[in-house]
Amino acid sequence: MAHYAVRESPPLRGEIPISTSKNAVLPIMCGALLTSEDVRINRPPDLSDVHTLSSLLIACGCRLRREDGALIITADDFQNPQDEEDVRKMRASVLVLGPLLARLGQARIPLPGGCAIGQRPIDQHLKGMSALGAKVQFDHGGVTLSGRLRGATIYLDMPSVGATENLLMAATLAEGATRIENAAKEPEIVDLAAFLTSMGARITGAGTSTIAVEGVKALHGTSWQPIADRVEAGTMACACAITGGELFLRGARSEHLRSLLFKLSEAGVHIHDTPGGLMVFGRAKQPFEIRTMVYPGFPTDLQAPMMAVACKTPGTSVFLETIFENRFMHAAELSRLGAHIRVENRVAVVEGTPYLTGAAVTATDLRAGAALIIAGLCAEGETTIDDTGGHIARGYDNIEEKIRNVGGHIQKLS
Ligand code: UD1
Repeated sequence: MAHYAVRESPPLRGEIPISTSKNAVLPIMCGALLTSEDVRINRPPDLSDVHTLSSLLIACGCRLRREDGALIITADDFQNPQDEEDVRKMRASVLVLGPLLARLGQARIPLPGGCAIGQRPIDQHLKGMSALGAKVQFDHGGVTLSGRLRGATIYLDMPSVGATENLLMAATLAEGATRIENAAKEPEIVDLAAFLTSMGARITGAGTSTIAVEGVKALHGTSWQPIADRVEAGTMACACAITGGELFLRGARSEHLRSLLFKLSEAGVHIHDTPGGLMVFGRAKQPFEIRTMVYPGFPTDLQAPMMAVACKTPGTSVFLETIFENRFMHAAELSRLGAHIRVENRVAVVEGTPYLTGAAVTATDLRAGAALIIAGLCAEGETTIDDTGGHIARGYDNIEEKIRNVGGHIQKLS
């Protein structure tokens, strides 16, 4: 796996093309299981999570091919994954559950364990499938769902992104009407619903807290361009804000990033919204307070990159993490660069300092890794990031090249 070497850099200047969203493309790839016809996904990002899910779909018997940069998935003859290890490799594999159950009448996956940022149970996915008529059985560390799905009203205890996606996909082929209440409203849900609609699904309300689905007998193939990655765009905006640069984030959509853009503006960073993307310029000069929330609140995935910005911003910034119980591991690593951070349960208090100095640090998870790269860009000397876990390449498409192209000093060492 990789190491990254980052050196203090001049303000980042230039254009960064934002890749297709990881969190949109993964459920859409699983959604391809809902039809026997070809599903064409245009410009998928080059991420190890996409490669891992591709391998899982192939192991299930799907056919995958590349054509003009697009990924084409054909699920005309497939089965449940035979090797549970394939599913265990990636948490998002849980999203095959709904489509497998809807198409095959049976689905089995190993129960996902906790991960670095928290326990991440799937009780809401299972509660919803059970409401749709699936029999749920636990055995040998896995869960098996079976039965013909019938529409139902499902109330989610919390607006889980993954559970909303899984249930939405299952409901498209269930008999009759389904309502998902207290549904997640993230842009990736809206994109998934639009993708499924282009396959013939009947869905209303995606993007609100109640999604209604009228089941259909079969879905057909489609060609889809998923949305741009708002977390990658937000991460690059943070890299700009910490170096005081001037970046054009091509393809980034301001309506998906309002909570971050407001915070950056409060901190003194300038933002210009244009039809082709976002222009970000200037340095963060004032401290800020961040409370992570479900969309449209501040995304938990941008908490770590914003903490890197806070480390160099004069004054006291405060972070409250409400989504995941263990998502401050980057704080200890940022402290190794000289950041002043105190963590108490779900609160982190950051006293900005003008000086960070390079050190050897570890990427403990995907967004933590991005935060360390950003901090390394304005730390004196060299910061080496041990990413033996391969976290950064899971979710950032060619981050080192994109940052290098706008003047950042970063090398990826395999
Ligand atoms: C998705 C994103 C991830 C992002 C997260 C929150 C993908 C592939 N990943 O993850 O990048 O950080 O949304 O925006 O899209 N929970 C339960 N029971 C459940 C499901 C969730 O208790 O059945 C809890 C989780 O432990 C967590 C919270 O709900 O504390 C949010 O999780 P969820 O919205 O489901 O996140 P993911 O879909 O896993």
